[in-house]
Amino acid sequence: MQHFFYNKDNIAISAGEGISRKILSYTDNLMVCELTFEEGAVASLHSHYHEQQTYIVSGEFLFTIGDEQKVVGPGDCLSDEPYVIHGAVCLKAGKLIDIFTPARQDFLGGLKETMKKTALITGGTGGIGFATAKALGAAGYSIILVDINDEAGKEKVEALRTQTIEAEYYHVDVTNEQEIVNVMNEIKAKYDHLDVLVNNAGGLVGRSRMEVMSTEFYRKVLALNLDSAFFFTREAIPLLKKGTNPSIVNFSSNAGWNAGGPGAGIYGTAKAAIVTFTRACAKDLAEYGIRVNAVSPGTIDTPFHAQIKRDNPALFESWKNNILLKRFGQPDEVASVIVFLTSQQASFITGEVVQINGGQDLL
Ligand SMILES: NC(=O)c1ccc[n+]([C@@H]2O[C@H](COP(=O)([O-])OP(=O)(O)OC[C@H]3O[C@@H](n4cnc5c(N)ncnc54)[C@H](O)[C@@H]3O)[C@@H](O)[C@H]2O)c1
Repeated sequence: MQHFFYNKDNIAISAGEGISRKILSYTDNLMVCELTFEEGAVASLHSHYHEQQTYIVSGEFLFTIGDEQKVVGPGDCLSDEPYVIHGAVCLKAGKLIDIFTPARQDFLGGLKETMKKTALITGGTGGIGFATAKALGAAGYSIILVDINDEAGKEKVEALRTQTIEAEYYHVDVTNEQEIVNVMNEIKAKYDHLDVLVNNAGGLVGRSRMEVMSTEFYRKVLALNLDSAFFFTREAIPLLKKGTNPSIVNFSSNAGWNAGGPGAGIYGTAKAAIVTFTRACAKDLAEYGIRVNAVSPGTIDTPFHAQIKRDNPALFESWKNNILLKRFGQPDEVASVIVFLTSQQASFITGEVVQINGGQDLL
């Protein structure tokens, strides 16, 4: 017989194979969990420090409580004293609700861990992506970075961890639907919810005028800046539905409004489409309480501009003249808006696009 206690070091309410757990509510002295069992799933024998009531919502279960065994079904209620060894075998798939009271602090400490807010950021090793990771991490999120730059991924995860921010990195080429599906399946197996998705990955790919643009280039720009947001959004919805104040932030750009600089017309087209995509998602996902917003940065000083800074620094500097505040934006100045949009303070904002451009559109 397996016998273990929950404590801060052993907290996983080890749902076990075929059992998923959702915490419906918890306070310092009450916790309510919903457990969904597949037929044949086994909650192994265990005991804990608190009183427990279990209500059977659906299905059929063989419960062992102390020396007793009984088969229970919908409407039945079981009570458990602290320390009593108990477990269950699911005879017919169903759901039950566990109520723990009063819960111990060490137990709840661990639960708070499992309830920890989680944010996934695509292009998370880049200028704005990493600034967002740091800012959301500081706001209490554990961070999932997605990018193609594996070396930076490793380095950035280390940097976050040294700031005591939980972080991990996944290699995903966001232009590849199958890679997105695969990684989201991996993430679904590991995380029971997601609170924030930031569809930040994007870029110019290169510059090309319409009359000479290859089909390959055209598709690549749309894949990077538009398709990626759609695929990540679609795949993340099941996890976001289980999140707290869940929301998505997409990335438009000044180029979405002014059609982009030389050779950046398709980039601008994709960024304009992101505006309507954001509003369409806001409509589709409102019923799940998932808010969807976008940011639209102006010129932000990141590796996005590495080539022009290298090839023609004077031209890059001159762009400041097109900005009302006469300077470029910093990645942190985009990240802070994302922290706001994903916070409870923005709980009534959805389908919105926030311009972050120092007044670039006013000149
Ligand atoms: N920097 C600006 O001036 C500016 C202005 C408007 C909009 N934006 C948008 O902001 C977002 C972030 O840009 P940034 O300035 O931080 O640029 P950045 O180049 O610093 O970061 C982009 C990140 O995306 C990653 N990436 C590129 N292709 C990828 C792919 N196929 N799969 C996975 N990851 C990939 C890169 O490795 C990089 O880490 C982008 O959507 C960009 O279009 C930037």
